[in-house]
Amino acid sequence: MTFLPSSATLTILSLVLLVVGVIFSGAEARPRAFFVFGDSLVDNGNNNYLATTARADAPPYGIDYSPTHSPTGRFSNGFNIPDFISQQLGAESTLPYLSPELRGDKLLVGANFASAGIGILNDTGIQFVNVIRMYRQLEYFQEYQNRLSAQIGASQAKNLVNQSLVLITVGGNDFVNNYFLVPNSARSRQYPLPQYVKYLISEYQKLLQRLYDLGARRVLVTGTGPLGCVPSELAQRGRNGQCAPELQRAAELFNPQLEQMLLQLNRKLGRDVFIAANTGKMHNNFVTNPQQLQSQWFITSKVACCGQGPYNGLGLCTPLSNLCPNRRQYAFWDAFHPSEMANKLIVEEIMSATLMVAVVRTILEED
Ligand SMILES: *[C@@H]1O[C@H](CO)[C@@H](O)[C@H](O)[C@H]1NC(C)=O
Ligand SMILES: *[C@@H]1O[C@H](CO)[C@@H](O)[C@H](O)[C@H]1NC(C)=O
Repeated sequence: MTFLPSSATLTILSLVLLVVGVIFSGAEARPRAFFVFGDSLVDNGNNNYLATTARADAPPYGIDYSPTHSPTGRFSNGFNIPDFISQQLGAESTLPYLSPELRGDKLLVGANFASAGIGILNDTGIQFVNVIRMYRQLEYFQEYQNRLSAQIGASQAKNLVNQSLVLITVGGNDFVNNYFLVPNSARSRQYPLPQYVKYLISEYQKLLQRLYDLGARRVLVTGTGPLGCVPSELAQRGRNGQCAPELQRAAELFNPQLEQMLLQLNRKLGRDVFIAANTGKMHNNFVTNPQQLQSQWFITSKVACCGQGPYNGLGLCTPLSNLCPNRRQYAFWDAFHPSEMANKLIVEEIMSATLMVAVVRTILEED
């Protein structure tokens, strides 16, 4: 059989181009502004300015960071997920909100409010003491807008935020650094896992509504990833290299409910503001099946490049840790965080999957 493009295929293709044009438009003189909220997966240096143990400002973090090859506060050997999204937008990377360099024209690029260690809940990551919890990241977003208004005027500032792209990545720590942090944690005594997930989703919805009220109109919301398969969990809870089942169960409960909540919220708002970018499933592809799907990239998705102990999954990544020589071939940089190469693949998948979701939705709405 030969495959000829049907008119439906052509419609899909032209819609894809349309959506690419809308989100990643090169038509404007200046790239779309970009705002980032969440945890260590997307923090690009805010914690450097805080008194906290959750930090990535010492070597070998940043060893592949271009062009300085030095640590920046990103939990990666090089670029992280927001950096690759900025590149797709044709923009420079956003600065951490706490950076003194974030002033003048730099404000027009956007800002990164994320802070390693935080979760949806205020009591997540309390062991890291001084981190920027979600409600505070949103307060900073308001403060940023006041500063921007003072510089370019209120209506221009509103417009910049209205046209911007927003990324939010949060939730993993509510399991790893809260519910499952210690046996019999306060939250695990309070709720069975399914009820805890429901509670998280309802609190997350409030945060997203607040983000909308603050002017965000295009928001990528990522899933938690395969929490039980990270080297840290393989080392501490996994049996014989199998993913830790209780954390996998948490992710399997959380991700679909997150998608449902976003659909409901969009329906309530009467527009597609929130887009699920389920890195859980995507990341799973090369975490659970590196041979088949990503063998051209990774020799392992179990052993962290930097660390010590089984799977290099114990303790922190420090100058004294084991360090792999071939960093592009590792899915995990440290015990919790993807390598630069994995971040690149994750963003490529987010972009293509996001476009497909938008296309399918458009087609459904047309019928
Ligand atoms: C988190 O703390 C802030 C500030 O105290 C508070 O306004 C907010 O309601 C809290 N969030 C939750 C979910 O308790
Ligand atoms: C904000 O963006 C939405 C769609 O993204 C558009 O419908 C609306 O008119 C914009 N509002 C302003 C004030 O620019």
